[in-house]
Amino acid sequence: MKYIKTQILWAGLILLVLLPVFRGFSQEITITVDARKPGAPIQPTMWGLFFEDINFGADGGLYAELIKNRSFEFDSRLMGWESFGGVTVHEENPCFDRNPRYVRLSYTTELNTTGLENRGFSGIGLKAGEKYRFSLYGRSRGEAPVILLIQLVSRGNDILNTREITIEGKEWQKYEAELTATATDAQARLRILVKERGGCADLDHISLFPAKTWKNRPNGLREDLVQALADIRPGLFRFPGGCIVEGTTIDTRYQWKNTVGPVENRPLNINRWNYIFAHRRFPDYYQSLGLGFYEYFLLSEDIGAMPLPVLNCGMSCQFENSDDHQHCKVENLEPYIQDALDLVEFANGPGTTHWGKLRSDMGHPAPFNLKYIAIGNEQWGELYPERLKPFIDALRAKHPEIKIVGSSGPYPDGKEFDYGWQEMRRLKADLVDEHYYRPPEWFLAQADRYDSYDPQGPKVFAGEYACHTQSRKNSFEAALSEAAFMTGLERNAAVVHMTAYAPLFAHYDNWQWRPDLIWFDNLNVVRTPSWYVQQLYSTLDGTHVLTTTSLGKPLTGQNGLYASSVTDEKTGDIILKIANTSSETRKVNYLIRGGAKGPLTADRYLLTSSGKEDENTPEEPFRVAPRKEQVNLAGAEFTLSLEPASFQVFVIHQK
Ligand code: AHR
Repeated sequence: MKYIKTQILWAGLILLVLLPVFRGFSQEITITVDARKPGAPIQPTMWGLFFEDINFGADGGLYAELIKNRSFEFDSRLMGWESFGGVTVHEENPCFDRNPRYVRLSYTTELNTTGLENRGFSGIGLKAGEKYRFSLYGRSRGEAPVILLIQLVSRGNDILNTREITIEGKEWQKYEAELTATATDAQARLRILVKERGGCADLDHISLFPAKTWKNRPNGLREDLVQALADIRPGLFRFPGGCIVEGTTIDTRYQWKNTVGPVENRPLNINRWNYIFAHRRFPDYYQSLGLGFYEYFLLSEDIGAMPLPVLNCGMSCQFENSDDHQHCKVENLEPYIQDALDLVEFANGPGTTHWGKLRSDMGHPAPFNLKYIAIGNEQWGELYPERLKPFIDALRAKHPEIKIVGSSGPYPDGKEFDYGWQEMRRLKADLVDEHYYRPPEWFLAQADRYDSYDPQGPKVFAGEYACHTQSRKNSFEAALSEAAFMTGLERNAAVVHMTAYAPLFAHYDNWQWRPDLIWFDNLNVVRTPSWYVQQLYSTLDGTHVLTTTSLGKPLTGQNGLYASSVTDEKTGDIILKIANTSSETRKVNYLIRGGAKGPLTADRYLLTSSGKEDENTPEEPFRVAPRKEQVNLAGAEFTLSLEPASFQVFVIHQK
């Protein structure tokens, strides 16, 4: 009997201990949102984009030029071209002094044909019925005019359209033609033939653009890809890198002055992503710089995003250059610093200044309203602050209105990260750029990352982040982990002022790095599950944070739940974001203190999928995408039943 009594006592004790645990899992959870006193403002720059020319994001991607190696400046001069007959490359008496090489087509009598074919970027994407603008610079080598046949040719070698261009005179001139594609083909070619024997002409800067570009601009951008940026309604646009800024060597760093002025004379640069990953080499990856700083500022303006240019701080990529001598010496930094000052002038200066005039001549007399500049990408160690300081001094002296973003290095924690932050505080950087490419568990564990950051110190720019699952796919699991983590960004809007997923673009046939926010081929664009998460946060951003707690604490993973809330002072809406990362349905009671009484309507956005590995593809682009519906809520207190593995946003209309 005594034995049984002891057993019962023990069982009771165990139950007593375990009860709260069970309750935690099975019981309804109450979340309180305090709408009586809105907290920190959400900065207009909070949800941003970061563009780098990686994965053929610029040439072969966003930049709508369809011809690869249009200026014959690649190290292998005819790379991207197939030549037949009398084709040679020259550089004497060039058309463009900074891109001096050009091609000579000489159809001599013993040959059967002479010409060139360009295969674009894994083919040229043509759409039936669409117009394409062809242009080249040419001069005749003889007295007689030279007739060229310009042809769009399908993958199967059918001619989709032909135009004739007659090259006349011995001086370089621009020639143009418009061709309509008679069929859709993702891997078409451009062919140029000399029509008759005896013809000899020099040709340079051979270009083909769709007539329909973003806003139909010449030298334009791919409309569907820009639309995928615009639809996020980003508040910030970081450009041009990333490691691209640093260059593998200091000579191949990104230099913004090479990217402005006439496109024909912007000197080609090799792209570091050409060779940097031995397992994914792309020997034909170069930067034409056709998408340069003018186009970038214009695009930022178009999509309503604050530009955030990143400039080289006098250091080449530290991953590639362990020897300190491979960076610019501190005493030689003057031209780098001048580049930063001149960039501000190019963006904001009046037309009476040198760089302001160039911007105006390029077509934008009004300033671009630049307010931020980042110096350095992923720099670490002592070499960085000693270089950053003179930049800060010069910028503060001449442009105190510009806020400066410094780097905390490539990792989100550790010795270098702590040192980086300490130095950024000492140098009084306005914002500090943090980067994290980490697995789902890391993102889920870091939802409280910014809860302890000092709101008085430099603000945070989460400048490059993405959840890397084992498969490295843009899977639903990655997107859900990011969504959960981002509640912590939103909750801490007092310290986090800017964020950006990375990288932005990837060409299905030409990528070096994944996951990426947007995938594309020559004809299609695919928005990933992560894209939808970014869009939900950015378009449903609100204006102020609302304190959101359960049992007095922020929801940072209790029962697999992550939550944050904002109010929108313009509309009066209250916007709840909640991720359920568990595999069970969760019942949640919301209590909105200060919320409107009586029945209310809300828009509910639900992002979920049955499989962790689910992704969007060209065949199934909307497999993982939010569903929107209207729901009725009882009032300021209501119960939600949250689907397992889901991210939801509720926009509650208070009026
Ligand atoms: O986003 C890809 C690369 O990741 C960036 O170029 C670099 O900053 C980081 O290491």
